Amino acid sequence: MQETQVAGDVHTAVKGPGKHFYIESYGCAMNFSDSEIIGSIMTDNGYTHTNDEFAADVVFLNTCAIRDNAEQTIRHRLMHLRNNKRKNSGLIIGVLGCMAERLKTKLLEEEKLVDVVAGPDAYRDLPKLVAEVEDGNKAINVLLSREETYAEISPLRLNTNGVSAFISIMRGCDNMCSFCVVPFTRGRERSRDPESILNEARILSQSGYKEITLLGQNVDSYLWFGGGPKIDFKNATEEQKANAITFDKLLEMVALVDPQMRIRFSTSHPKDISDAVLHTIVKYENICNYIHLPAQSGNSRILEAMNRTYTREWYLDKVNRIREIIPGCGISCDIISGFCSETEEEHRDTLSLMEISRFDFSYMYKYSERPGTLAQKKMTDDVPEEVKSRRLSEIILLQNRLSLENNRQYIGKVVRVLADNLSKKSDKDLSGRNDQNVKVVFPKETFSIGDFVDVLIERVTTTTLIGKAIK
Ligand code: SAH
Ligand code: SF4
Ligand code: F3S
Repeated sequence: MQETQVAGDVHTAVKGPGKHFYIESYGCAMNFSDSEIIGSIMTDNGYTHTNDEFAADVVFLNTCAIRDNAEQTIRHRLMHLRNNKRKNSGLIIGVLGCMAERLKTKLLEEEKLVDVVAGPDAYRDLPKLVAEVEDGNKAINVLLSREETYAEISPLRLNTNGVSAFISIMRGCDNMCSFCVVPFTRGRERSRDPESILNEARILSQSGYKEITLLGQNVDSYLWFGGGPKIDFKNATEEQKANAITFDKLLEMVALVDPQMRIRFSTSHPKDISDAVLHTIVKYENICNYIHLPAQSGNSRILEAMNRTYTREWYLDKVNRIREIIPGCGISCDIISGFCSETEEEHRDTLSLMEISRFDFSYMYKYSERPGTLAQKKMTDDVPEEVKSRRLSEIILLQNRLSLENNRQYIGKVVRVLADNLSKKSDKDLSGRNDQNVKVVFPKETFSIGDFVDVLIERVTTTTLIGKAIK
């Protein structure tokens, strides 16, 4: 996006149009997507986005609270911002997102330099909150909503490559996994009006985007009955059920917007992903053969303690079902090491689940106790730190081997890649992803970012397929 010229280096608190805001996002894709909604709300209210934090009158940190280290990162960042504030006393600092929601007024009290605190459902209020600070007050809104989906807000695409974009299809989460803070920071689950989702997809297609990712904490429970309060599918009338838009139907509707545009989605919950979704993936060429299916653990007792509501066997059956219906489907996973009371044997169950499922890649974490969660209230975080670390290393080591073995299967094969960036290592190479979401790097030659390129894979690493375009 073209930035307007920023005047001088002396900043005073100026009201109204002409002020600049800067936003930094942490955490999951949902937060990055929210920042684009925030961007839109702020620009609609006369603010201009800047990528230069030192040129900003308002600095927003859109924060994550998922693990303790995520919050520590924000605290360090806030300490650095103190310097900016010393040079520019009118600077307004806002903490938004999940950590803001979790800590509420505490952030204003503990971090004296924070001026604005706004939770994930309060972004429409941001211009007003900033104005209150300009009037000399601190400002906070951490109310969670049962309805807010920011449905009609057209996101301001920030730091975009013009190729891939996120579309948020729902907010919140009703699952209450015992380790997880998200239900507390993002509130109850609600689905967004499908018409507004399709509109956003159409706009992206018309603007030349080549890939969209539908976002939700649990996309498989997307459900639209035509507005109004959420009805549990089980309690709906036959007529309501027949007219309901479930995730498979939404996926189909989005796929039909532009057959040239790739569709991805995240995250799928093993208890909810249906055969209908799998068949829809197969039916449409442009829906990527890739599913992010977090297991968290491979042991049924731990899964129960985590309140994941499925067993090891259920999970493995889902993986089989995916492989049966979508041959060659990429599957990735999230895993937590050292959850409360996890034994060595139970940890080995996680390793064996990974081995059987042969994940293409995984996001792997040490359990971090979060205040307010069921696990924090009812269980003891009793696996010693060094045991969590050692188990995590074993998990990572195994995943690296599985990734390498999976990647080796591509050698000598041609994969279709959407080039979405220059390679990090060399600007003579392009980087992109294949259908299964594996990273591919190849010489740029005459290709551009945004091109679909057929690449012959010659060698691989644990994370990357490397090859050459075939003409
Ligand atoms: N909605 C998604 C994931 C959201 S959070 C799902 O249901 O899978 C992303 C990942 O962070 C989780 O899958 C989990 O692996 C990890 N995570 C969440 N809470 C955590 C905690 N307290 N400690 C360590 N990892 C955690
Ligand atoms: Fe957290 Fe579970 Fe909801 Fe995912 S499904 S956001 S892990 S509570
Ligand atoms: Fe973090 Fe909130 Fe996402 S806690 S992972 S930013 S939903």
